[in-house]
Amino acid sequence: MGKSLILLKDLEKEKIDAILERGEFWSQEQNFRVSKKIKELDNPLVCNLFFESSTRTRFSFEVAAKKLGYHILNFEPSTSSTQKGESMYDTLKTLESMGVNVAIIRTKEENILHEVTPMLNLSIINAGAGANEHPTQALLDLLTIKQHFQRITDLKIAIIGDIKYSRVANSNIIAHTKYNNEIFIAGPEFLLPEKDSMLMTDNVKVTNVDDAIANADVVMMLRVQRERHPRKSDFDWSSDSGKNKYFEAYGLTKERFSTMQENAIIMHPAPFNRDIEIDSDVVEDKKSMIFKQVRNGVAIRMALLERAIEE
Ligand code: CP
Repeated sequence: MGKSLILLKDLEKEKIDAILERGEFWSQEQNFRVSKKIKELDNPLVCNLFFESSTRTRFSFEVAAKKLGYHILNFEPSTSSTQKGESMYDTLKTLESMGVNVAIIRTKEENILHEVTPMLNLSIINAGAGANEHPTQALLDLLTIKQHFQRITDLKIAIIGDIKYSRVANSNIIAHTKYNNEIFIAGPEFLLPEKDSMLMTDNVKVTNVDDAIANADVVMMLRVQRERHPRKSDFDWSSDSGKNKYFEAYGLTKERFSTMQENAIIMHPAPFNRDIEIDSDVVEDKKSMIFKQVRNGVAIRMALLERAIEE
């Protein structure tokens, strides 16, 4: 059996470094190139199981798998036997019995993947689990930061917006704590982690949006995860005035953008909402790494799909 990736929390720094090194290799490689192990396995099978919507993660895994020579199966939850009550374990055991080598899974459930993985003889990659972790996003973010600064330590990382319900924020805070970066979080109080959250290490400081953006090397904006909020929001998202209120209070406006450090970069995992989290003109500014993040997503996922079939 190969190597699964469920939580960045459980991955040692040396292993993250090795994935980033291989991701860097694939980011330079423009051509399709079947790896030796994939040839040996005679085009292994990877199955995408997305129980939540996705564009970037799903298609970048698909592109990565095609580039490496995998055969790809796409599982459709709405027409699968999960509609008849089949559990995650039984679904994966069924795919394992058909010879599937790797399952890429996005799920609303936060803990199911680390419960079922030890019971299965196929590798599992977490493509986003509820509001818990999105480890492959944090890895592609680290690669993007490393390419720009030539390092991933001694940096100031600002993470702005809906942190409490963001699996991207969680995985990034975990990653940047491992690399001993200073992490500044800012957003509406109801969207910040609880004070006793495991994420609130000594590396993490709550600050205001203006200071976070003006002082950071990396400004990471986040989408408001309205689909996960348990109660009525403090903002009226149905009206333009409600959206403007959020943008003015917490968005990367042109004014805040103008205060950024000279060599600082803007990141967003996307999908982004123009003029709600980020000014539309800023999205494609040269400081913005948003589409580079998407490109690096393919490279990192190639590294992870190779690793998934390593002994
Ligand atoms: N960043 C990210 O996970 O995007 P998708 O939801 O489109 O996969």
